[in-house]
Amino acid sequence: MSMLLLPMPGNEAMVAAVAAGLAADAPFATGRVLTHRFPDGETNVRLEGDFRGRDVVMFCTLAQPDPQFLPLVFAADAARDFGARSVSLVAPYLAYLRQDKRFIAGDAIASQSFAALLSARFDAVTTIDPHLHRIARLADIFTIPVTVLHSAGLFGSWIKAHVARPLLIGPDSESAQWVTEVAAVAGAPHVVLNKQRHGERDVSIAVPDLARWHDHVPVLIDDIIATGHTLLAAAAQLRAQGLAKPWCLAVHALFAEDAHAKLLAASDGVKTTDTIAHASNALAVAPLIVAALRASSSMGKPLT
Ligand code: R5P
Repeated sequence: MSMLLLPMPGNEAMVAAVAAGLAADAPFATGRVLTHRFPDGETNVRLEGDFRGRDVVMFCTLAQPDPQFLPLVFAADAARDFGARSVSLVAPYLAYLRQDKRFIAGDAIASQSFAALLSARFDAVTTIDPHLHRIARLADIFTIPVTVLHSAGLFGSWIKAHVARPLLIGPDSESAQWVTEVAAVAGAPHVVLNKQRHGERDVSIAVPDLARWHDHVPVLIDDIIATGHTLLAAAAQLRAQGLAKPWCLAVHALFAEDAHAKLLAASDGVKTTDTIAHASNALAVAPLIVAALRASSSMGKPLT
């Protein structure tokens, strides 16, 4: 295997977990990216490692895409300069996918621009449960191979192990498909609510009559928690119907402002995957990434 794992700063723990999962396999190498901020605000990027002939797999979860993007590109270009055979990206959280249309005349469609920028710099991208709403598939906006990994199995198993008599609840129509998958793994019933977003912090949720589920524990499950208002509004509606405090589960722990504290107060617990490092992380995605890396390297291919 000629793979080299290269974490951008802040992604070292994920790479260590992936490296531990790969350890039984053929040898692989790891490299380092060092960054330095100059007084004028520019960034110096320096790579350590032997990149010659290797399939370099960069790791960068894009929770703060604006400051992360330029150093990521500088590092990817440098890896190629130093002889990498391919340079692919594992972005457990892939940013900008929610800006997928002109909501207001004059809006840029950032999802398309960002996908084009990544496509120009990497040979392949791997991510976990991307937010797809008006775009049906990432292949519609990327021009490079994209691998999508799914955390539904992790959530299903977690719920089975930790919640007795769960009722899974997706807060909006976009969540329907994967709440169904999680419910199948958990062997639990599920319902999907109807969300209307009026602003960044203004969400209303319509909930059907849930009287028949009063003896169940509600488990709200969403792909992203940002301001937390989606799950807060849903939790309030469930309480108004007399249901127990819900669990709040999500894939990507963005947690703007005091969203985590508010959700903790409104729920029985908040649990997320570690696509973005956060105190709420309870489900590890490294095994999903390890399986994808094993599958691609066993075929002698760069990660696709
Ligand atoms: C959007 O449709 C997503 O699936 C999430 O529901 C949304 O991003 C959550 O955002 P917030 O926590 O700000 O309500």
